[in-house]
Amino acid sequence: MLERRFEVESGGLDGDRSELISMVRGAAAIVADPTVPVDDELLEAAGPGLRLVANFAVGYDNVDRAACARRGVLLTNTPDVLTNATAELALGLTLAAARQLPGAELSLREGAWSGWDPARYRGIELSGATVGVVGLGRIGLRYAQLVAGFGGETLYTSRRRKQDAEADLGVRRVSLEQLLTESDVVSLHLAASPENRHMIDAAAIASMKPGSILVNTARGSLVDSEALAAALSDGRIAAAGLDVIDGEPSVPQSLLDAPGVVLTPHIGSATYRSRDAMAELVAGNVIAVLGGDGPLSEVSPPEG
Ligand code: 8YV
Repeated sequence: MLERRFEVESGGLDGDRSELISMVRGAAAIVADPTVPVDDELLEAAGPGLRLVANFAVGYDNVDRAACARRGVLLTNTPDVLTNATAELALGLTLAAARQLPGAELSLREGAWSGWDPARYRGIELSGATVGVVGLGRIGLRYAQLVAGFGGETLYTSRRRKQDAEADLGVRRVSLEQLLTESDVVSLHLAASPENRHMIDAAAIASMKPGSILVNTARGSLVDSEALAAALSDGRIAAAGLDVIDGEPSVPQSLLDAPGVVLTPHIGSATYRSRDAMAELVAGNVIAVLGGDGPLSEVSPPEG
């Protein structure tokens, strides 16, 4: 879609900073993904012709929104089109962590399955479990809808009360402290910000229900990986399903070694349908803005 209309320079996913800086010179639009920090330096390098940063993601913690606003550069993201894909992965990680699927499969592949054993490969049942959804935005809400099928109670935290969800799903808004203490499964669905960095730290994990599960498909920075690895190793919490890891793509050895952790390489939106729709939305935003129309999915500038 873009190459039919514009001159497109592509690359940079594995490029270093200086390659990125020289790639964006003179650009009217930058398409970035969450691994590319779009900061003042990059915007400056693009120069005064830059009109748009189109992020290939719903999250935009990689982008300095204030710097974009100062320069009159619009920012767009890809909401909605990845909601189902990401919520479904969160459900998949919840089930995989609860039943320790990767560990069980590995033991079979390694030839360690010696026959039926009533005590082996036991996990946690989700039916009737209390599920805590941290952040009831689009993805958190879809996850809450999916887990409603297990028939337990769903707690949520959110800046604003979600009356429709309360009426439709019977979800209950509580404080983060109460959610952590009462939930059998805690699933994170928050946008990352400097304020919520490591919100799930050693103290938060210590307050989680013994034997519970933590799922993160949002951003790695929300969780202190070392504290999580320690809690898993001590058996304080039973399991974790992580699609995002602080400092990714590097993964701390402590997490790789911890028992009960299921890890995937940031594949929340990786379905054919979702990635195609994200690509179309990104390109659609670039075409609209450079063509003089309004953006299709703008991220509003920070207040103030
Ligand atoms: C990845 C995501 O960004 O949308 C987000 O915020 O984290 C994911 O969709 C995407 O897979 C990479 O572009």
